[in-house]
Amino acid sequence: MITQATIQQILSRIDIIDVVGSFVKLKKRGTNYLGLCPFHNEKTPSFTVSPNKEIYKCFGCGKSGNTISFVMEHEKYSYVEALKWLAGRYNVEVEETEVSAEVKAQQQVADSLYILNGFAQKYFSEVLLNDEEGQDIAFSYLKERGFNEAIIEKFHLGYCKESRNAFVTEALSKQYNRELLVKSGLVALRNEELVDNYRGRIIFPIHNTTGKVIGFGARIIKKNDRAPKYINTPENEIYIKSRILYGMFFARQVIDKFEECLLVEGYTDVISLHQAGIENVVASGGTSLTTEQIRLVRKYTNNLTIIYDGDAAGIKAALRGLDMALEEGLNVKLVLIPDKEDPDSYVNKVGAEAFRQFVAENKKDFIIFQLEVALKDAGTDSQKKAAVVNQMAETLSRINKAEDFTRQQDYIRQCSELLQIEESGFTNLVNKFIREKVNKLESKQFSEQAYSHNEMPPPMDFDGSASDEGFQLLLKDELQERAVVRALIEFGSMQWDDNNKVADHIFSECVEDDLFDNKKLLEVINTYKLWYDAGLEPTAKNFFYHENQELSAVVVSLLEFPYELSDKWKDKFEMAVSSREESYKQEVISTLGYLKLRKIKRMIDENQKDLGVPHSPEEQLNLLATHKALKDMERELLRHLGTVIVR
Ligand code: UTP
Ligand code: MN
Repeated sequence: MITQATIQQILSRIDIIDVVGSFVKLKKRGTNYLGLCPFHNEKTPSFTVSPNKEIYKCFGCGKSGNTISFVMEHEKYSYVEALKWLAGRYNVEVEETEVSAEVKAQQQVADSLYILNGFAQKYFSEVLLNDEEGQDIAFSYLKERGFNEAIIEKFHLGYCKESRNAFVTEALSKQYNRELLVKSGLVALRNEELVDNYRGRIIFPIHNTTGKVIGFGARIIKKNDRAPKYINTPENEIYIKSRILYGMFFARQVIDKFEECLLVEGYTDVISLHQAGIENVVASGGTSLTTEQIRLVRKYTNNLTIIYDGDAAGIKAALRGLDMALEEGLNVKLVLIPDKEDPDSYVNKVGAEAFRQFVAENKKDFIIFQLEVALKDAGTDSQKKAAVVNQMAETLSRINKAEDFTRQQDYIRQCSELLQIEESGFTNLVNKFIREKVNKLESKQFSEQAYSHNEMPPPMDFDGSASDEGFQLLLKDELQERAVVRALIEFGSMQWDDNNKVADHIFSECVEDDLFDNKKLLEVINTYKLWYDAGLEPTAKNFFYHENQELSAVVVSLLEFPYELSDKWKDKFEMAVSSREESYKQEVISTLGYLKLRKIKRMIDENQKDLGVPHSPEEQLNLLATHKALKDMERELLRHLGTVIVR
């Protein structure tokens, strides 16, 4: 870990104009700088950098962030790598903290595994290329399948001999320890004896994104129904299957360039396509995609094209990854390879050009594809069709990032056309699913926080009808939550009264966590509090350079749209935008007031629902009393806020 002192030093020397300016030609426009966005293709500049706020934002593609996230995004660095890069640029000597013994031991195992895997890879390649058995059995097999020598070398393919222990013997003679050999999966322990695990198999080394070998896939050559076709590296310190996409190391720059990532199932599919000159391709290893894999793709592009076998299993596997991909904001396209072929065999059969053409012509939008399949399935059965409508609405409700709103609208339009239903009704249905999800999340959070002891979870929320108004309200609610957090960050260290700062006041008013629906915003508040309690006066900057870049992104997003929020504010509370600084107390009161009001409204709704079912007279009286008390509180709050607000 880099020490806090080093980080502070780096931060104090960072100049966002200087850093961004070294990648993007910037021109001064008023207080900001303007240039052509490095993250998407554009002809007129919409990439804006604010030296005062130390943030950038592209009004074309929406990318935004701070100096560190710029370096991370542009250079595809991790947080630590970006810090080190900046340290180098500003001549800051990097000091790293001592890590715990446990972490250190783990790092050592990881380092040893990298070294062992590197050694094994070279050994297996050597056998494939220069050993007689390797040539006769493995190399000839690969040739037979159409792989040329250049591609075999590029992917570092290898061969493990049929002998019980050819590799083990070599490794032991090079002083690799037994425990590590077993951990790596290269070797297995059989009756106290170490034996080669991949005997008689072609070796496919698996690289991480920096090109180090983290594991292997080993394919059987001879037909054998009792042995698995592939043996893969077991999970260990460096091989974590859910995070790996085979071929990413060789594909990442091409993916970036073509703004598209092709996804296939198998190792051989990746290699064959590379050989055919189609290099922006990775493999999932035949399982459905994990969120981590999707995020790895999204580091390079938003466009994922899945190329699978046309058989039912292939389609099913592909469909399983879809929901998560949608939630992560990916555009997913699907191409099905016909006639029981897979991408490897198909490209070998028809050639590179025809393959490209086939992909281009048969690329289907994944959501529309799913709908067409389901509709065909349902036929004229109206009950089945209703289920399809519901299913589609649920799927579309997963596109819920604010920046994807237009995309969602587009889909709603297309789908209602295909389904032959009213667009407005379908919109309502989608919104209903969105609301249900928010509610679920909400009560889950609630029960995790307050009801971990098996008490009955509290009932939550809105009326559940499919009205648009409810949805709008929900969006507004989020704006109010954001406004409170923004006020905290901007005015937290200003005076509230003689004894308290604004932060003290906000914390005293926000002791109940359930005031906030958005977990991320709550995390910002809690982080602020942690710092504040430690004697810091946190500002937006502290968040910008927080190690958790997600948190940083939330805060950037809070500050980057000052006018959007303030305009709404002005309508609601008749406050002038320019007077925010002077009237910060009023802003704090209003924002907090709204949140409390929302909570009370929810309680009233709940109480009213309760009133609707039969009770004993005593209970009934209680409920009525509660209702009156809540209504009084609501009125009082409204009076305080000086405005009548929604519902
Ligand atoms: P396939 O059976 O389609 O194999 O499995 P393939 O990659 O096309 O290999 P060839 O062309 O027959 O030689 C697809 C992927 O599923 C994983 C592997 O990652 C494989 O590349 N798999 C398959 C396993 O992990 N274990 C198995 O036993 C089979
Ligand atoms: Mn295959």
